[in-house]
Amino acid sequence: MFVGLSAVSSASSTRLLLKQGLRSFSSSAFTSMAKPSTATSVTQAKIQKFKIYRWNPETPQEKPHLQEYNVDLTGVKPMVLDSLIKIKDELDSTLTFRRSCREGICGSCAMNINGSNGLACITKTDTSSDEIVIYPLPHMYVIKDLVPDMTYFYKQYTTIEPWLQRNETPENSEVLQSPAERERLDGLYECILCACCSTACPSYWWNQDQYLGPAVLMQAYRWMIDSRDQFTAERSAKFQNHMSVYRCHQIMNCAKTCPKGLNPGEAIAKLKNIIAAN
Ligand code: SF4
Ligand code: SF4
Ligand code: FES
Repeated sequence: MFVGLSAVSSASSTRLLLKQGLRSFSSSAFTSMAKPSTATSVTQAKIQKFKIYRWNPETPQEKPHLQEYNVDLTGVKPMVLDSLIKIKDELDSTLTFRRSCREGICGSCAMNINGSNGLACITKTDTSSDEIVIYPLPHMYVIKDLVPDMTYFYKQYTTIEPWLQRNETPENSEVLQSPAERERLDGLYECILCACCSTACPSYWWNQDQYLGPAVLMQAYRWMIDSRDQFTAERSAKFQNHMSVYRCHQIMNCAKTCPKGLNPGEAIAKLKNIIAAN
């Protein structure tokens, strides 16, 4: 299970010196600055401190820790992922994280940035922070550094059978849906399964073995209200227990954290109504 670490308090005076272009060295810190040829180039460096969770399964004797990087953001694009790529490319190639689309579509760069879950590729680097502290998604097993193990999350997703199910399919035509029926899926189908919501949900932290969590439950609801699906009753029957849905207490962390602006908590409340009616 993920072990939390307290962020080391900021050393703002050190950062001030760095902002003024003076180098500060520490045994655990990496610093990236263009080699100053003149005093002017030194003062133009935009140094930002990052503290990033590190853990390597190949060196189990080393405990998880925060690694410090002082990064010159001059010329670096504005998102946290851009800074991570700069660190990996120029400072420390061993830093491990997932990314693919870099536009908030694949969900692979989900991580905890300064205390909030989000997608690194669409989260702006907050240069007003003394330091930017990055952990993997909370309460997940960690494969390495910022890479959480999503196996169980995906396994839970398969349990809701996320595909259309029908008793009969018309032979020579499509299964049609009116514009109004299609609109009911808005706010649900956009989910990219990044798990930011589930890993921000206290109920999911403590009951992950049985509670399905907001991401998976919102998708369960999405298939149950799809006008083309004929298995609502069968899907409901699977939820007639105390744990898989009813651990949601409407705390709404999920809606607050969703980087796509979706509201899984509301979907779960509606899902409970369908289950009650069946
Ligand atoms: S609901 Fe939002 S936070 Fe949750 S998995 Fe989907 S996109 Fe990610
Ligand atoms: S509303 Fe439900 S699913 Fe969302 S964070 Fe709260 S308990 Fe978790
Ligand atoms: S890289 Fe795909 S969502 Fe961030």
